[in-house]
Amino acid sequence: MTLHERVIRFADDGARGRAAAVVSRVFVGIGAVSRLLDGVAESGARRGVVIADGAVAATVAAEVESGLSARGLTTALIAVPAGETSKSAAEAVRLWEALAGLPADRATHVIAVGGGVVGDLAGFVAATFVRGLPVWQVPTTLVAQVDSAIGGKTGINLAAGKNLVGAFWQPVGVACDPAALATLPDREYRSGLAEVVKYGVILDSELFVWLEDSVDSILAREPAAITHLVGRCVDLKATVVEADEFERSGLRAILNYGHTIGHAIENLAGYGRLLHGEAVAMGMTAAARLALATGRLPVEIARRQAALLARFGLPLAPVGIAGLSVEGIVEALSRDKKSLHGRVRFILPTDLGRVGIVDDLDSGLVREVVADLLSGS
Ligand SMILES: NC(=O)c1ccc[n+]([C@@H]2O[C@H](COP(=O)([O-])OP(=O)(O)OC[C@H]3O[C@@H](n4cnc5c(N)ncnc54)[C@H](O)[C@@H]3O)[C@@H](O)[C@H]2O)c1
Ligand SMILES: [Zn+2]
Repeated sequence: MTLHERVIRFADDGARGRAAAVVSRVFVGIGAVSRLLDGVAESGARRGVVIADGAVAATVAAEVESGLSARGLTTALIAVPAGETSKSAAEAVRLWEALAGLPADRATHVIAVGGGVVGDLAGFVAATFVRGLPVWQVPTTLVAQVDSAIGGKTGINLAAGKNLVGAFWQPVGVACDPAALATLPDREYRSGLAEVVKYGVILDSELFVWLEDSVDSILAREPAAITHLVGRCVDLKATVVEADEFERSGLRAILNYGHTIGHAIENLAGYGRLLHGEAVAMGMTAAARLALATGRLPVEIARRQAALLARFGLPLAPVGIAGLSVEGIVEALSRDKKSLHGRVRFILPTDLGRVGIVDDLDSGLVREVVADLLSGS
């Protein structure tokens, strides 16, 4: 199997004082991690600091560390406790102090090994330590391979909200290796598939049809199937972030399909109750219903989306989950940081592979669709 490579080129950005264009290389497929390690060695790094999720510290991260040693680098491995609570200021301080203690200098590169939590945290620490160390990403969840490791958004959470402190910091390289997903729990894997379905609906009808035809090999985690779908999603995300790195034009906003109502449900359900992708599956179901009710989307497309999500074992509605109410969700929507002047912005599909941005939906209709979703009808 050959390795899929996508080079993402970000324009230089005079306004931010960036002197030159930035390039990020993404390798997808069996052997991607070893290709990334060659890249680290070839880049002139002398020390590699592996910041790893505790769940993969002894497996993928240990392999990354020994691969760096074998290539002549000095190494260190710092494990981060699994879970969203690690995306905190306290954990960032601990990592900055650890880097200072080495001491890390500009020939030190950070290699993040884990899901979106470690990718966002280690990326942020790399972006800020001595005003920026090069960072490489080795995503070990499907969510991270198709989404969070690409595009350079890094950050941590505050009590006041998620991702409130952060920076855009592009990784030098990203390795999406199916082998890195070997120990990923099934529920986490399925959760990642919700983001994959999202890409199909918003940008790529061919991908959507391929998913419909490949459910069995995808759920069996056949490396060729994973490589195909991750490669496709990486290309799609790359194209979007290349055109709109800093979320200025609105293009990058389409990646939030299913996330408006999805985030509200995820937060109100409470920490750890729903996985992100599960909430996004519900959010996409609600968005498709809004599109249907406003005459934007043929019923057949809404039906195919629901059927595909269900075949991936994803929930379409938050049935039987305590703490959710129509009022609560509507209120959370208006507090969403992406709402503009109190108007909630929705990304609504108009066809397979096509979406529009809508911010003038009737609030009564939104309420109705949320109520239907909660009642499971
Ligand atoms: N930067 C971005 O553009 C972006 C985009 C989407 C999401 N995110 C962020 O990503 C985070 C969610 O990412 P996630 O879904 O990857 O969650 P995660 O990083 O918490 O990983 C999910 C769980 O899987 C475990 N795990 C990871 N890899 C494993 C493996 N190979 N084997 C066994 N267990 C493994 C982790 O310990 C954790 O318990 C959120 O904080 C979200 O805000 C960021
Ligand atoms: Zn998401």
